[in-house]
Amino acid sequence: MSNSTIIQDVLKGVCTEEDVSDAFFELANTPVVMFRLPNKARTLQIHQDSQVQKQHTGGIVWETSVLLLNFLLLSNVNVGKTVLELGAGCGLLGLGLALANDSVHVTVTDTAQVVAQVHKNVTMNQLHQDSRITVCALDWTQYQEDAVISSVAAHSFDTLVATDVLFSPELVQPLLETMQYFAKPDACMYLCVQIRCAKSHALFLQRLGEFGWRSSDVTDELRAIPECQWGPWMGCQLFQLTRI
Ligand SMILES: C[S@@+](CC[C@H](N)C(=O)[O-])C[C@H]1O[C@@H](n2cnc3c(N)ncnc32)[C@H](O)[C@@H]1O
Repeated sequence: MSNSTIIQDVLKGVCTEEDVSDAFFELANTPVVMFRLPNKARTLQIHQDSQVQKQHTGGIVWETSVLLLNFLLLSNVNVGKTVLELGAGCGLLGLGLALANDSVHVTVTDTAQVVAQVHKNVTMNQLHQDSRITVCALDWTQYQEDAVISSVAAHSFDTLVATDVLFSPELVQPLLETMQYFAKPDACMYLCVQIRCAKSHALFLQRLGEFGWRSSDVTDELRAIPECQWGPWMGCQLFQLTRI
């Protein structure tokens, strides 16, 4: 097995759920994975470390982050000028969005423990001088304190993105509060998930309205993009959330 692998090459030609599972098993066991940015002569390198956090592991790139990054880049979604990624893990999605869009400022966040890994990936890709990228701790259970420490303003983001963040019923309300706090009044959010915890998934969708969001299941839009067709085979769902 090589020490670094281009994600798109590993996924090329997959035709069944088993192929996709095998591809992500290979990727999860590769220390550095790379994502080739469409229309850019560069790849993003992502260091993975499964030891970073054993619970809800943010140490590896999850399927849904590859899927949502492909979707946002290949369907040319306009993410506005300010993007917030919640529960970023290794940072593939947020860093990929920043690198692909010259006019976007992306704030990539996770718990303090995990965000150290995003800093490492920023350095590995020589992005530490890029003023369009902010990496900071933003724990959903203490988002107001973390926002003050990192100078992240309330209601300042055009688009929020998150992948595989519905795994614990106790974290559903903190996540919804965090989303409400940072979104602009006309913000949009893209959430891509696999159902890992049915209770959390149902609770999140059921309580969205209380926090000023409505959801639309746009999973079918994945089928129109060849690089995203494997998502629905894996049970991945894509939601577009808008403010009520
Ligand atoms: C399954 S991982 C998904 C990581 C990444 N989004 C991906 O798809 O590759 C879930 C992420 O949620 C983060 N997380 C868990 N609890 C959190 C909290 N209280 N506040 C912020 N992030 C949290 C974890 O650190 C982890 O990175």
